[in-house]
Order: sequence, then structure tokens, then C-alpha cells
Amino acid sequence: MTNTACVLITGTSKGLGLALARSYLNAGEHVVGCSRGASTITHERYQHHEIDVSSEAQVARMFSQMREAKLLPRLLINNAALAQTSLATFTKAQSAQELLNVNLFGAFLVCKEAIRLMQRHRFGRIVNLTSINVPLASVGSSLYNASKAGLDALGHSLAVECKDYDITVNSLGLSLVAQTGMADSLDESAIAAKRAHLLKPKLLETTEIVAAINFFASADARNITGQLLYFGGVR
Ligand SMILES: NC(=O)c1ccc[n+]([C@@H]2O[C@H](COP(=O)([O-])OP(=O)(O)OC[C@H]3O[C@@H](n4cnc5c(N)ncnc54)[C@H](OP(=O)(O)O)[C@@H]3O)[C@@H](O)[C@H]2O)c1
Repeated sequence: MTNTACVLITGTSKGLGLALARSYLNAGEHVVGCSRGASTITHERYQHHEIDVSSEAQVARMFSQMREAKLLPRLLINNAALAQTSLATFTKAQSAQELLNVNLFGAFLVCKEAIRLMQRHRFGRIVNLTSINVPLASVGSSLYNASKAGLDALGHSLAVECKDYDITVNSLGLSLVAQTGMADSLDESAIAAKRAHLLKPKLLETTEIVAAINFFASADARNITGQLLYFGGVR
């Protein structure tokens, strides 16, 4: 049995991850997704793993099952993340630790396993989703902002470690995304404050995000790695 190329997306039970999974399925791709909760997608080309990305054993199990099914990730989108909606002084240590475990350590674990497979097959694309919160230093999400800055730094270092392969690692900094959990968790004043800082304040549609990811994933972008691209006109 030959390998089947797939798009691996973390955090596909809802929000943007769910929209991305549906979009790639509609485009005819095989998609592997994961979340702590059950799958919300039923499709013959979709495989779901109920895992916590911050668990080394659970991430290893997902990759082992992918290898058994001969599913080889051509593209990894690190989307799973936890939000923070409290000032640092009101943020409990346990929820802060959980956020770092998912947003940074979890992405590291998934990248590590994906890169092993990609290096064996000498090809792969990784896109890490970060946020305009980083350059805006948005209030009420200090550790989230730091986790996303760390994710970009992780991607940059992984890009260096993958330089001798046709493997690229890039970051995509999203502004507010229409109909997603993190945008919905903000009140109107927080959304207005954020939009006031953007040259392009309109909410993002999934199609725009897919187009940017597909650019990074394209063969013609093989020499673009370790980069960070922001929506919204921030830098
Ligand atoms: N929405 C926006 O406006 C916006 C703006 C900038 C950046 N972003 C970025 O875009 C991405 C998606 O955001 P979103 O608004 O779609 O988020 P969301 O609606 O909160 O969805 C997050 C997804 O991640 C999964 N997840 C959370 N913890 C997990 C864990 N430990 N293991 C596995 N899966 C886990 C969740 O499923 P379970 O709860 O079932 O595990 C869910 O499927 C995030 O990286 C976010 O930082 C979003």
C-alpha cells in the first residue's frame, strides 16, 4: 500500500480548525484532525483523533495510527490553541500553565513527530497560526501573546533544522476571524479596540486564510521558510 498525502490540522472540532478541515476536504484532500473532544466531521477522507496535543503519548499514538493508515502529512497546520481573557494579575497559574502546554509545548510535540515523517520523505510544509495580538500587545492576553511569539520563534528554529530538506516552516498571523471561538469570546469593546489598530480591520474569511496557507504550501514557495506573515496590516 502506497502512502496517501494528507493535510494534518490540530484543533478541528470547532472554529477555524473545523472550517479549514471542511475546506481541504471540499478541495479533495485527505484530512487528519484532532481535538480533545469528539469529531464533528463525518467524511470518508477524514480521520479524527481524540487527543490532547500537550500529551506526548497521545500525540505519538496519533502519528502511529497515521503511519498504520499510510497517511503522510504533506502539510501540517498548527491551529489548536487556548485563549486567555484575563489580565495577568487575575490569571490563575494552572490555566496559564495549561495555555502554554497547548499553544507552545503541544505545537512542539506535533511538529517533532511531523518533521520526523517529513524528513524521511524529504518533503513537508508546516504553517503555525499566530495572532496580531503579538505586535499589538493586546491587553488581557499576555501569556497567549507570549505563547504565540514563542510559536513563531519555534518555527524559525525548526526551519533552520529542516533547511537541507524540501521542508518549510512558516507562521501566519491572523487578525480577527469571522465566526470562530476566539473572536466570539471577545466583547464588542475589545473587538473595536483591536480593529482600531488595523490598516485592514475587516473580519477574515476562511478562504483568505486557506489562500495564504496554500501559498506557503505551494512548490513555488519552497525557498520561503522561517517567515511570519500578518493579516490586517500590522507588523
Ligand atoms: N478566532 C480568531 O479571531 C483568531 C485570531 C487570531 C489567531 N487565531 C488563532 O487561530 C486558531 C484557531 O482559533 P479559533 O478561534 O478557531 O479557536 P477555538 O474556536 O477556541 O478552537 C480551538 C480548537 O482547538 C482545540 N483544542 C484546544 N485545546 C486542545 C488540546 N489540548 N488538544 C487538542 N485540541 C485542542 C479545540 O477542541 P477541544 O476543545 O475539543 O480540544 C478546538 O477544536 C488558534 O491558534 C488561534 O490562536 C484565531
